[in-house]
Amino acid sequence: MKRKYVIGNWKSNKNLSETENWFKSFQVLFSQNKNIQLGRVEIVVCVPFVFLSLAKKLRDEYRLPLKIGAQDVSPFANGAYTGEISATQLGEFVQYVIIGHSERRNNFREDDSLLSEKVKRANEAKLNSIYCVQDENTIIPAGVGIVAYEPVWAIGTGKTDTPENANRVAQTIKQKWNGEVLIYGGSVTADNIKSFITAESIDGVLPGGASLDAVKFWQMILNATAI
Ligand code: PGA
Repeated sequence: MKRKYVIGNWKSNKNLSETENWFKSFQVLFSQNKNIQLGRVEIVVCVPFVFLSLAKKLRDEYRLPLKIGAQDVSPFANGAYTGEISATQLGEFVQYVIIGHSERRNNFREDDSLLSEKVKRANEAKLNSIYCVQDENTIIPAGVGIVAYEPVWAIGTGKTDTPENANRVAQTIKQKWNGEVLIYGGSVTADNIKSFITAESIDGVLPGGASLDAVKFWQMILNATAI
């Protein structure tokens, strides 16, 4: 069985104490289920920049089986770029970074050429990029590690793509793209996760809303390990 990915995206949510509580709850759930076989499931949680340091500290302190990710990265290296967070800076805290989420493309007008610079910076810093595409026609820059197929209409709406169509899109992307890991995002929950990760061409999921609650996130992980 291939490796499966469960990658939470908190977006612009939570304060300091809510972040601490999430990690504490996750730790309790993990300690109650120590026998769970997590070997084939890569768990990642992408938290806001301001909580990356805390998330890494708590992950290490509680010895949690998860990786930390960021939700964006500067297209520039370190330097005079006020407000930006570079890939090198992220590298101290994360192994993964989301690039090209539709919320960034739409709200911040991020385009293909900017996004390909972000992927380059992520690669230079040896970060795994999780590159979001809206359909099989979105351009994918060279060097992307994971592609996330996320139809915009399914994000935060409670409406998912059908596993059959998501699998078809995943298959088409994989035929064109020189990479292996493709995940689905858009209203993924503990109830529907299995239908996506058991689809032949889908290697994982990118839940947003359902990752905010440690119990729901944990339940998704349990369901992912039970396939
Ligand atoms: P959602 O978000 O799970 O809340 O639909 C997914 C995403 O935007 O990555």
